[in-house]
Formats: sequence, C-alpha cells, structure tokens
Amino acid sequence: MLAGEQGRATRKAMEILVALGTIYGAEKLLPVASVQVAGVSYDNLGDAGLHFLNEMAQGGGKARVLTTLNPAGMDIENWQALGIDADFAAKQEKVIEAFARMNVITNCTCTPYLTGNVPHFGEHIAWAESSAVCYANSVLGARSNREGGPSALAAALTGRTPAYGMHLEQNRSPQITFQVDFDLPGNDDFGVLGKVIGDQLQSRAEVSIPYIRGVVRASLEQLKSFSASLATYGGAALFHMESITPEAGRFELPDEVIAVSPGELEVAKSQLTDSEVNEADFVSLGCPHLSIKEIARIAELLEGKQVVKEFWITTGRPTKQIADRMGYTATIEASGAKIAADTCCVVAPIKGRFTALVTDSAKACYYASGKNQFQTIIKPFDEVVYAALGEGCAP
Ligand code: F3S
Repeated sequence: MLAGEQGRATRKAMEILVALGTIYGAEKLLPVASVQVAGVSYDNLGDAGLHFLNEMAQGGGKARVLTTLNPAGMDIENWQALGIDADFAAKQEKVIEAFARMNVITNCTCTPYLTGNVPHFGEHIAWAESSAVCYANSVLGARSNREGGPSALAAALTGRTPAYGMHLEQNRSPQITFQVDFDLPGNDDFGVLGKVIGDQLQSRAEVSIPYIRGVVRASLEQLKSFSASLATYGGAALFHMESITPEAGRFELPDEVIAVSPGELEVAKSQLTDSEVNEADFVSLGCPHLSIKEIARIAELLEGKQVVKEFWITTGRPTKQIADRMGYTATIEASGAKIAADTCCVVAPIKGRFTALVTDSAKACYYASGKNQFQTIIKPFDEVVYAALGEGCAP
C-alpha cells in the first residue's frame, strides 16, 4: 500500500497511518473491523476538506471495512425544512457524494452503535466521534483511539490502524476512582456527572481513565449521554463503571478515591444554564443522536399538542425510518416539531439564527455556547419537550 501499488489514495492513507504510528511509537498495524469518520459537515470541512475528500475519491480510495459517517450539516433528504441555505446544501451533497464514491455507507450519525455499526467486545475499530469512541470502548468493550477525520478515513481505505493507545491492554487500566452514592434519574444527570468527572480529569494531566463506583443502574441512553459528556469535558476515551461496563472487574481499583456529591451536580447544572435567558428560541433533543425509545417518548409527549418554539429532534436516518413506520414522525410533525435526521444542533450551520438553546445534553451546551454562541439551558428530557410547548422555558 505504501509503495503505491494499490493506488494513489491508498498510498496517501497509509502514509497518514505510518506517520501517526511513528509519532506514537506503534510497533505494528492492526486490522480494524469498522470505521466511523468524522468531519462530515461542510460547516466544519469547508472547501479545503471537500477538496481533500475529492482527491481521495479520484485517487481510487475505497473503504475496505464497514465505514459510516458522523452527522452532516443538514438533513440530507429534508434540508429545506431546517432552513438550510441552498449553496450550503449543494456543497454538503458533494461531501456526501465523495464519501459514497469511496464505498463509505452514508449513514450520518454519532450513534453508529444504534444503527448497524456495532463492534463487539475486544474488536479493534477506528472511530472518530468522541462520544461514540467513549461508548464503544467503555460500554461495548471495543478498542478505539479517538481518530481525527483524516486518520479515520485512512483506516477505512486500508482496513488498518496503528497499534497504540486504547488498542493496547496495558493502557486501559483505570487511574482514579469516583464514588457516586446517589440517584441519577435522567439522561441530563448522567451528562452533568460526565461534566463533573470530566472537569476533574481535565485539571489533572496524569489521569484520563476514571473508574466509577456507586451507580446502580444506567440505561443505554444514559450511558450515551455520560460518554458524550465525559469525552467533551474530560477528553476521556474510556471509563469503567462498576457492575455496568464489561471491563470494570478486570483491573485493580485505583487507590485514589474522589467522592462526588449531589451538590457538585447542582453547581455543574447551574454552570450549563445561563441565568439571564428570558426567552429560549431553540429547543433540541438528540445529542448524541436519539434512540427509537427516546423518539417514542417525545411522540407520546407531543401527541395532539402544538410546539411554540423551533424544536429539532436529531437522530440517525435508520432510526427515523423506524419512527416513520411507527407513526411517531407523523405525530411529531403534526405538533410542528421537526425530526432532523443526519445532522444535529451543533454541526448544522445555524450560528446567529438563535439566541438560546434548551437541551438535556451537557455536550450540546458546551458546543452551542462555544461554537454557535447560543445561551443554554439544561433540563431533564421531558421538560425539554415541555419547553418546546411553551411550558416553563426559563432557567
Ligand atoms: Fe452527536 Fe452532534 Fe452531539 S455529533 S454527540 S449530536 S454534538
């Protein structure tokens, strides 16, 4: 591959992997079972990114393993309904076409593990979306570093990744214990816990893998929320949760224990909520992309009602197709809310369109304020829906 015998794009891809492996001291390459590529929204890629993708496609690049995409900047089939500009849509379509020419499955979602890209325990993968990497490593027990867009694409085109970091058993041990002895009823609570622990990790360069004790139960949706938040605030690619994640019993427990208190969660929640917001004008659920169970709940809450805010419900296309079949989409759309597949409230080009976002996601709060300069309000899942209905949208 490196000699160019398998084409220009494959050579470029292998050059990227060799450079990365050299930097990190990898001794070999590993075959990967699947890839998830980030850097899909034209809002992030720009013309330079589109040019790179076209070069790789023209150079004969073809994905050799199951490869899916992170969210794009719009709903690919229904971008007009989200108020996306036609010029942006044309560029975004070119990005998707370039990936399709490379044999990449153009399912644009940050929860590929809900829609067919599901690695099993111990499998080596090369994923790029930080929340999905954290979920795959921790909840599924797969092995992935947090790839960048180009290195994930390089892994897709070669079927390989350098053996370093999370791929090596010795790098997966927990380094610090967090004791959480109280109830975490909602997705938002798990997201806020991810912020509290993530902030601690950020302040200490020597620890990046937490071991969490005391959490008695956690649903798939809560774990995806926690993974997103821990990766965002703590840069973590892996956590272990006692009796919940599959590797938690395999390692010696770290000596250092930090107790997390309910009060710390309250403080973190207040940090994610701008107290001066009078009137939120944007509501979104689906960071990370929603499961069908969550969409069913939204449909139940919206049945026969009308929203009074712009409300985006973001998910992967296959999940939306199930929602279509079950009648959830019809119920949601009848209320005036929008199911936005393939995209999300962070990667869509909406900076300047809204002033304040209501969400249940600690990660969405981080990027909505950092990237889009929105004010933010974090609320429990059901209350976010009530906010869209005009019921209690102040902090
Ligand atoms: Fe997914 Fe967008 Fe959140 S990519 S994790 S919904 S910021």
